[in-house]
Amino acid sequence: MGCHVGNSTRIIARNAFDGRVIAIDNSPEAVSSMESVMNDYPQVEFTKADVRLHETLEEVYKKIETCDVLSVDLGGGYHPDTTFKVYFIWSSTLKPRTTIIRNRGLLDFVRSSQTQEDIMSKEGWLESSNDAGIPPRLKELKLWSNKL
Ligand SMILES: C[S@@+](CC[C@H](N)C(=O)[O-])C[C@H]1O[C@@H](n2cnc3c(N)ncnc32)[C@H](O)[C@@H]1O
Repeated sequence: MGCHVGNSTRIIARNAFDGRVIAIDNSPEAVSSMESVMNDYPQVEFTKADVRLHETLEEVYKKIETCDVLSVDLGGGYHPDTTFKVYFIWSSTLKPRTTIIRNRGLLDFVRSSQTQEDIMSKEGWLESSNDAGIPPRLKELKLWSNKL
């Protein structure tokens, strides 16, 4: 998610020559560059869509149901709330083995934090929250649905 013009998608596709790479970005800039990435790497499928929307997740879920690696690179280093929500919702639906998140603010926050509590997830989603789903009381999550 957040493939932009496909710089990291090309690296991923070179390494996943036997796999399937679903790349998503809502920027108009991404469209022509990602067409060229798809020509070079037939395993790449690009969709221009907003990853905050339930229908985008639903479209991807219908195609793959699960994934090995989820990658979230949406920018917004110092307002990382969207990155975190997108990660939480996509990963708890697709249950990836590994998630890669590129976000400066989240990294800084995690490295600055301390706790005596033992909270840790060993998979690519937050197992520590089980299948808690999306808290309905949070109005900002109204874009999401528990349907999947
Ligand atoms: C830092 S760039 C990604 C760089 C890219 N991974 C690369 O290798 O060059 C962040 C991208 O996330 C996309 N983005 C941000 N919010 C988005 C959203 N809600 N839905 C889809 N794409 C989004 C932006 O359009 C932008 O292209």
